[in-house]
Amino acid sequence: MSRIKGSFVGKDIISLDQFTPDDIKILFDLVKRMKKVRIDSFSKILSRKIVSLLFFEPSSRTFFSFSAAAKKLGGQTLEVQNVQTSLSVAKGETFDDTIRVFEAYSDCIIIRHPEKGAAFLAAGISSIPIINAGDGIGEHPTQTLLDLYTIYEKLGKLNGLTGVIAGDMLNGRTVHSLIRGLSLYPKNTLYLLSPNELKLSKDDYHHFLNKGIKLIEITSYENIPLNANFWYWTRIQKERFKNLNDYYKVKNKFIISNELLRKKGNKNMIIMHPLPRVGEIELAIDQDPRAVYLNLQIQNGLFVRMAILSLVLGKS
Ligand code: NCD
Repeated sequence: MSRIKGSFVGKDIISLDQFTPDDIKILFDLVKRMKKVRIDSFSKILSRKIVSLLFFEPSSRTFFSFSAAAKKLGGQTLEVQNVQTSLSVAKGETFDDTIRVFEAYSDCIIIRHPEKGAAFLAAGISSIPIINAGDGIGEHPTQTLLDLYTIYEKLGKLNGLTGVIAGDMLNGRTVHSLIRGLSLYPKNTLYLLSPNELKLSKDDYHHFLNKGIKLIEITSYENIPLNANFWYWTRIQKERFKNLNDYYKVKNKFIISNELLRKKGNKNMIIMHPLPRVGEIELAIDQDPRAVYLNLQIQNGLFVRMAILSLVLGKS
């Protein structure tokens, strides 16, 4: 996996481990510009470029924000959802062959797959850039880049933060990338709130600790600190459970309600969620000015993905 080191051109985007704060700043400067200037002025950046979207797992925002991003930049897309049933994969075509086919037809492949490591494998096969749009329980780097941008935009910094991340630490790829992302900046502390059985794997826990971030694993509301800068709630990842009874035991163990916000929240924090939510944030919270999951995070997803495509495909 090659590090970004100041240049995104032609690179695969697989993991937050490829980035430094300087790389993220390059991206954020472009996002800022794209948000400020009329979007039409970027409408030729991807002209004559074709972006393939190969999604082996369901998606709403990631798929369509990448699709919209490519089109707003003047590019075109080859879009496949349900790859298993709609391509020759259904006839037994191998993963390698499918990647080679789309490598021949396009300039970049955005891939989502149920297996951890699939995007990395694809990058080894293809000579065109691969962007990881979620690899099983592995990572979801573009989600984290939009999450970091949202935190930066609302709180003005990415260091010295205290955050609460709640839900599925074991299986949540958005969480795995977010912890990596926040580890790049000094003096961040994360409280990881989850049921006991969904704590980070031992491997992940040690991997993250080695990066120097302070992680505090908690299993009840009582241990939520009062001074958090952000709450990042996530869905229990039902599709990763072998036994659905185990899922129902932990589903909705931690829900954001007005009562919880009154007890444990503060007025300057923001409330985040990568979506989809399936009950873990009460609808009443949507009106709260601190909630950014239905507005800013979704909007930033489009701009961050526009900026990523511009930088990777070589023009800005
Ligand atoms: C996430 C994912 O696919 O990992 N969705 C997204 O892209 N925002 C989160 C989830 O499915 O829980």
